[in-house]
Amino acid sequence: MNNNPAVPMMTLNNGVAIPQVGLGVYEAAEGAEVEAAVHAAFEAGYRLIDTAAIYGNEAGVGKAVKDSGLPREEIFITTKLWNANHAYDDALRAFDESMSRLDCGYIDLYLIHWPLPMDGKFPEAWRAMEKLYNDKRVRAIGVSNFKNHHLDELLKSTATVPAVNQIELHPMLQDKETRVYCAERGIAIESYSPLMRAGEALEHPVIAEISRQHGKTPAQAILRWHVQSDLIVIPKSVKPERIRENLDLFDFELSETEMQAIEGMDEGRRIGADPDTASFK
Ligand SMILES: NC(=O)c1ccc[n+]([C@@H]2O[C@H](COP(=O)([O-])OP(=O)(O)OC[C@H]3O[C@@H](n4cnc5c(N)ncnc54)[C@H](OP(=O)(O)O)[C@@H]3O)[C@@H](O)[C@H]2O)c1
Repeated sequence: MNNNPAVPMMTLNNGVAIPQVGLGVYEAAEGAEVEAAVHAAFEAGYRLIDTAAIYGNEAGVGKAVKDSGLPREEIFITTKLWNANHAYDDALRAFDESMSRLDCGYIDLYLIHWPLPMDGKFPEAWRAMEKLYNDKRVRAIGVSNFKNHHLDELLKSTATVPAVNQIELHPMLQDKETRVYCAERGIAIESYSPLMRAGEALEHPVIAEISRQHGKTPAQAILRWHVQSDLIVIPKSVKPERIRENLDLFDFELSETEMQAIEGMDEGRRIGADPDTASFK
């Protein structure tokens, strides 16, 4: 069923192992579309699925997990707490709602989706995450879209260092500042929108040349750069051939010069919302 060499595992700061490459399901429609994407991913050898309450497709992810027949412990499920639910009781209730949709026993990684709204509630949400962790309902807890000043604020209020910070990261937005901060504190970085949402990075001449040299696609060249940069990476696709393509990364290696050429593409260019200015609730 899976012809790919094993996906490397990374170890989070609490000892939990996470596959380095996973499937993102943002904008995969609830029901048949997301279920087919998750099945194609399992078939290709993925074991990490990244969803969120706000994606509206947790039930489909959960159904595909059950229907796959794979042992639950072989699968790594991430979901996220939405911004409206940062108050302590709201966070616990939102978690229960995610769990009833996913119906998968426990969550492997639960993330605070954004450090928003900016009314200072995320440390309260974090206390709820700590309870879920202590109650063994989640195997690891982390954050998403946290800049260094958000992490400073969080770490003032807790001794529990997030296991992960999931942030927008691709060749045109390399965010060295957050990566250095997190590396110093043992927080793993997970790259979201790793292909820049099929944006300009895929067409860039540096990527075109590297992919040509290796007989790989532009997406594979970019995803290989994430892997060799020690990032966890969760490309999204609902197309089976692209899902396979995005995991077929382990039969080639970028040279130091190629890694540096991609590093030279950084323009600090964000395609998603900036956590400091995002206005959604
Ligand atoms: N924490 C957060 O706030 C946050 C924010 C955004 C995303 N995320 C997570 O990160 C995941 C990935 O990010 P993303 O969905 O924003 O963007 P992405 O993975 O960079 O790009 C997805 C887009 O690229 C296309 N694509 C996928 N593989 C391709 C390939 N090999 N060649 C050409 N095009 C390809 C997809 O289309 P098709 O589906 O049609 O193939 C889709 O339009 C999300 O699904 C979600 O799980 C998290």
